[in-house]
Amino acid sequence: MKIYLKTYGCQMNERDSEAIGAQLIGAGHTLSCDENDADVLLFNTCSVRDAAERKAKGKIGYLKKLKDRRPDILIGAVGCMAQRLGNQLLEELPHLDFVVGTGQLHKIVSIVEDFAKKRQRQVFTAESADVLTGMGEHQDHGAFGQIAITRGCNRFCTYCIVPYVRGREISRDKGDILTEAREMVDHGVREILLLGQNVAAYGLNGNTRPPANDVSPFGELLESLNEIRGLARIRYTSPYVTYFSDRLISALKNCDKVCHNIHLPLQSGSDRILKAMNRQYTASDYLRYVEKLRAAIPDVTFSTDVIVGFPDESDEDFKMTRDLMNEVGFSQSFIFKYSPRPGAKSAERPDSVPETVKEERNQILLGDLSARVEKMLLRQVGDTVEVLTEGVSHRNEARWTGRTGTNFVVHFEPTPNLQSGVLKKVKISRAGGVSLFGSIVEE
Ligand code: 5AD
Ligand code: SF4
Repeated sequence: MKIYLKTYGCQMNERDSEAIGAQLIGAGHTLSCDENDADVLLFNTCSVRDAAERKAKGKIGYLKKLKDRRPDILIGAVGCMAQRLGNQLLEELPHLDFVVGTGQLHKIVSIVEDFAKKRQRQVFTAESADVLTGMGEHQDHGAFGQIAITRGCNRFCTYCIVPYVRGREISRDKGDILTEAREMVDHGVREILLLGQNVAAYGLNGNTRPPANDVSPFGELLESLNEIRGLARIRYTSPYVTYFSDRLISALKNCDKVCHNIHLPLQSGSDRILKAMNRQYTASDYLRYVEKLRAAIPDVTFSTDVIVGFPDESDEDFKMTRDLMNEVGFSQSFIFKYSPRPGAKSAERPDSVPETVKEERNQILLGDLSARVEKMLLRQVGDTVEVLTEGVSHRNEARWTGRTGTNFVVHFEPTPNLQSGVLKKVKISRAGGVSLFGSIVEE
């Protein structure tokens, strides 16, 4: 069968789709980029905000016409929204054939093949730890690979649906991760991105108390990965701030392949809102970790996630968020307008901040970010930075792009026979938009 697979949402979903694709290919099916030329249409969905759910539902709804014309095609919803809504999705979308939640994705091949034979509409949403072992496969993506090291989340931030749709936190076996990483490197991967809802909780057996200062199984994992010959870079996303034990910080400091960029979700700079979010730190705790990390890794950059318009967020609360963001000086921030998720705790409270205010706060933070990033980029003009080459720039075919370890995008003229996944020194000549421009310096 020819399968079209569309992904919504986060990097974990991207990674799941990669595993779904690899399983289907392994069973003899092929992937198609064209929805009109496929026998099976799969949508890997997201539930984190209402807009994400509406987008996927809208898309599937729109396919009714195609299904009327070609009743033989199969349409499946998989992933987080599939897990959250289950049977309700089948009811809402009468032309949808099957629903596969996050715990059953490792069975996707048999589910699709069975449906093709029996044509019996069905929902698969049981939670299962087997998903860990069944999701190791990956497709060939050149020099960049991703590995999910944990699944699920035990933190229950009050706004968040993830613990409900991805289940309890479990860590994969360290040996399996190392084997997968080595195999990837043997196939040409040079940069590995480690994924988890809270990667720093790796190996802590689902305990929600942050580790003691001399403990960090995640740090130990980084140290083992750092030993892999042929691997150039290791990134990870996202760690929860209070899990940066001294042990983890020392691992970050000592592992030369671990990139100096930390995505450190803040969510809010107001202690009152942080408490209502069940984020177990205060604004000053957060700053203390940032300072500790900067002291250990002087050139480290931080990016973050922030929610504006959480129930009852006042102008003062928002100002605290804004001030803290400016104080930390994030080089990238993802700002989300609060979206109540039925099932998550905060959805029991009125969504009290008007949409216009959410949008205003969003725009203010975006404005701060772009002013700050402009300065950060300008400061690097004249520097020589190390980039891992990616490929031809999407914007200008005459240029290539790469990233610094601190996660700035760099555009440069390629040298003859330049390959993807090679570390190169680039001298920065100018900054423009959100990136740097320069040329390769020959060693
Ligand atoms: N509304 C808005 N943003 C949310 N996030 C998670 N849940 C919600 C929600 N209900 C954001 C958080 C998280 C990021 C992945 O999505 O900032 O870090
Ligand atoms: Fe959601 Fe909080 Fe878990 Fe992140 S740590 S996935 S925000 S519950």
